[in-house]
Amino acid sequence: MNDRFLKACRREPVDCTPVWFMRQAGRYMSEYRSLRAKHSMLDLCKTPELAAQVTLQPIDRFPLDAAIIFADILLPLEAMGLDLEFAEGEGPVIHNPVRERADVERLTVIDGHELDYVGQAIRQARRALDGKVPLIGFAGAPFTLASYAIEGGGSRNYVLTKSMMYREPDNWHKLMDKLARVVTGYLRRQIQAGAQAVQLFDSWVGCLSAGDYAEYVLPHVQMIFEGLKREGVPMIHFGTGTTAILRQMREAGGDVIGVDWRIHLDEAWAMIGYDRAVQGNLDPVTLYAPLLEIERRIEDILNRADGRNGHIFNLGHGILPTTPIDHVAAAIDMIHKLSQR
Ligand code: CP3
Repeated sequence: MNDRFLKACRREPVDCTPVWFMRQAGRYMSEYRSLRAKHSMLDLCKTPELAAQVTLQPIDRFPLDAAIIFADILLPLEAMGLDLEFAEGEGPVIHNPVRERADVERLTVIDGHELDYVGQAIRQARRALDGKVPLIGFAGAPFTLASYAIEGGGSRNYVLTKSMMYREPDNWHKLMDKLARVVTGYLRRQIQAGAQAVQLFDSWVGCLSAGDYAEYVLPHVQMIFEGLKREGVPMIHFGTGTTAILRQMREAGGDVIGVDWRIHLDEAWAMIGYDRAVQGNLDPVTLYAPLLEIERRIEDILNRADGRNGHIFNLGHGILPTTPIDHVAAAIDMIHKLSQR
């Protein structure tokens, strides 16, 4: 069993720095594209055999130190009553977005069994992994989920999301509370199905001011981490554009704090505190650079981690669909070799 990843989450010594990549199963891999040619994104997610198969694709090809279950952060929104579509070429769309008080009220606080296909996929992926590397479960954080639910898809300025926050704070908190309860139950079920760590993706929370994060987001995220503490698995708290709120993210919770590439890793870690592990923080676009340049940037990150216990190497955000696959393999090798203790 390769348990470097779990050891680093617990800030224990490791033989070299563990690495995994967000979105490591996806379109940059021909194995994934072949399967996607035959099945829709939602079919892949909802068929446990297929989801488990996709989860293992990057593990079979690269010496990664963790697998992440194949699913999507938006699946719980569908189970709560929103009409979700992964539209070809334009990303996710929600056809009946949440705009008014009545829309928030009609959202069902599901207990999680509606998403049992994810639990089944986790069981099958664990069996197929056979202890080779640990399996990570995940969910979207309330703010990032709320942004999709309200905007009806991706957004640039989050005008509708922030408008609800500023104009109808009661309604906003009601929505966030519903999402936080659903996410807590969903992650608990993933852990019970066999997820050995969980990551909370607050991908877009960096669009908020520090003051708004504290008032409108932090208490809800805190509830999730508090509610899952006794499950006893490491929890990763990830966001992008979060340089100004890293301390608050730490306060909200997580054994490991995800760091994007906009800040030096050593500065981020000093802000977060050395009683937490950190994950990051290579710019995903670095993987398009010549190998020597990739190596220089990996070395810089490892130097900034300074051999401390509790660094998990990752990209600062998900790997991009057009990433050259041989650079992915080379980067993983460099990370392991350059970090050997
Ligand atoms: O990391 C993994 O390998 C596990 C799988 C995973 C997916 N989505 C599969 C996926 C994970 C962890 C996610 C998380 C996710 N989904 C996030 C948070 C992480 C982040 O990138 O910020 C967000 C914001 C989403 C919502 C989402 N799903 C978007 C914006 C898109 C469209 C953009 C895109 O890349 O196409 C998706 C679709 C999606 N989710 C794909 C995959 C592999 C592409 C679907 C396809 O094959 O066409």
